[in-house]
Amino acid sequence: MFSQVRSASTIGVNALIVDIETHVENGMFNFALVGLPDNAVRESRERVGAAIKNSGLAMPIRRYTVNLAPADVRKEGSGFDLPIALGILAATDQIAGELLRGTLIVGELALDGALRPVHGILPVVLEARAHGLRRILLPRENADEAALVDGIEVIPLESLRQTSEFLNAGLTIGSHHVDREVLFRHRDDTGLDLSDVKGQENVKRAFEVAAAGGHNVIMVGPPGAGKTMIAKRIPTLLPPMTFEEALETTKIHSVAGILPGSTPLVASRPFRSPHHTISDAALVGGGLGVARPGEISLAHHGVLFLDELPEFARNALEVLRQPLEDNRITISRTKLSLTFPCNFMLVSSMNPCPCGNFGNPNTDCTCSPPQIQRYMSKISGPLLDRIDIHVEVAAVKYRDLASKRSGESSAQVRQRVIAARGVQAERFGRRDGVYKNADMGSRDLRDFCQLDAPCQDLLKMAMSKLGLSARAYDKILKVSRTIADLADAEAIRPEHLSEAIQYRSLDRQFWNV
Ligand SMILES: Nc1ncnc2c1ncn2[C@@H]1O[C@H](COP(=O)(O)OP(=O)(O)O)[C@@H](O)[C@H]1O
Ligand SMILES: [Mg+2]
Ligand SMILES: [Zn+2]
Repeated sequence: MFSQVRSASTIGVNALIVDIETHVENGMFNFALVGLPDNAVRESRERVGAAIKNSGLAMPIRRYTVNLAPADVRKEGSGFDLPIALGILAATDQIAGELLRGTLIVGELALDGALRPVHGILPVVLEARAHGLRRILLPRENADEAALVDGIEVIPLESLRQTSEFLNAGLTIGSHHVDREVLFRHRDDTGLDLSDVKGQENVKRAFEVAAAGGHNVIMVGPPGAGKTMIAKRIPTLLPPMTFEEALETTKIHSVAGILPGSTPLVASRPFRSPHHTISDAALVGGGLGVARPGEISLAHHGVLFLDELPEFARNALEVLRQPLEDNRITISRTKLSLTFPCNFMLVSSMNPCPCGNFGNPNTDCTCSPPQIQRYMSKISGPLLDRIDIHVEVAAVKYRDLASKRSGESSAQVRQRVIAARGVQAERFGRRDGVYKNADMGSRDLRDFCQLDAPCQDLLKMAMSKLGLSARAYDKILKVSRTIADLADAEAIRPEHLSEAIQYRSLDRQFWNV
């Protein structure tokens, strides 16, 4: 007897339809699983056998051959348990095989036959729909996430026994629905707002500019100045996610298995803040076994915050460079390479020196020049090349802290950010890969950041007077374009330029002590 069941496996943030063919013949008991299964899939043999028996169903003494096709693609995960079990039940006439037509099946089985949720459901359902399948059978815990996709029936199930009863029409289970509008509108409110931050008007302004142009930022300031506090509030300044962006980010969180059951849709911009001891693999993705998206991909369409940047291993900062350039990361494996998107805003912070008091008028710095130099050199060069805005964060003034007056709310700032993004979207139109000022390449700079004579003179003078490096030049142009956009100005004017010049403090030569 023969049966065929459809399932799917994730590959990166996408899914691949897998056909599970089961052939049963008379003979001594044997259960062979072929078609390049990884460890988790191989263990599936043991789980499936036990689950069938413990569900009051039979696995008669026969020779079973189960093939996962296409055979030349590596399949990962535990989601094949349920389809393999159903393939066996169909091949041994315990359920009718034609009931499985047009149906995709995923789910892990416990030994007692209960169904357990699997990772990466969203890409699987999207692929099933693209394949013209009409319904998907899956563990109940995965149903909300699956129902984000319309145009395909989602049947939530609890156990193998219940699944067989459902297929044999002894049991009716309706298609599962979620209100996508409600999920999308109901962004989890973190309760954080820019108005919590007292004073620090120049820092807030710098982040308004950064959010408006999508620029990466580094903050420099003493401990306790509020750097971490401000960073956490940056997602509230960015434009709200579109549904499309929310789905893209959800896919990554789904594959990583970090989607909270209560909120199947990532509708708010992520804020990821890995500790400085993080490994390269956890930061950019990869690792042994199943390739997992890293923090940079979990931050897709949101913010990656690297607090205390010089504490990170030099190598970790090195591996960030390419993905910052490309907005995606490719992880190479022996048999295949996976690409994960990682379009994020980098926000980082550092103390001005190891003791934190360099440049502080009230407290003396106890660091020696070589110590400071070593500290600064950790972030030098290539990574700094990807950061458009440097913000000096001074210790908050007592007068500001004690003040009852609260500054602007995140929503007010966000309004201006959205307007400036609108100007950029219109300007770049169909330029490939350029959506915001931070994305501009040299051609775009030539086309959109022309300086008139007074501006040219100003920039020339600033470059030589402040000792700015050549790499500062393009960044200043980009950032002044954003500042002009916030002011709804067609041309870059001297006041835009001089504000942008202020955001290059780490390029100034006094740092090279
Ligand atoms: N501008 C500010 N307004 C209100 N509270 C502040 C401000 N700056 C700092 N604080 C308070 O000081 C604490 C320490 O700030 P933090 O963000 O951890 O500083 P840093 O990261 O620069 O070391 C914050 O949790 C907050 O309670
Ligand atoms: Mg901090
Ligand atoms: Zn110091």
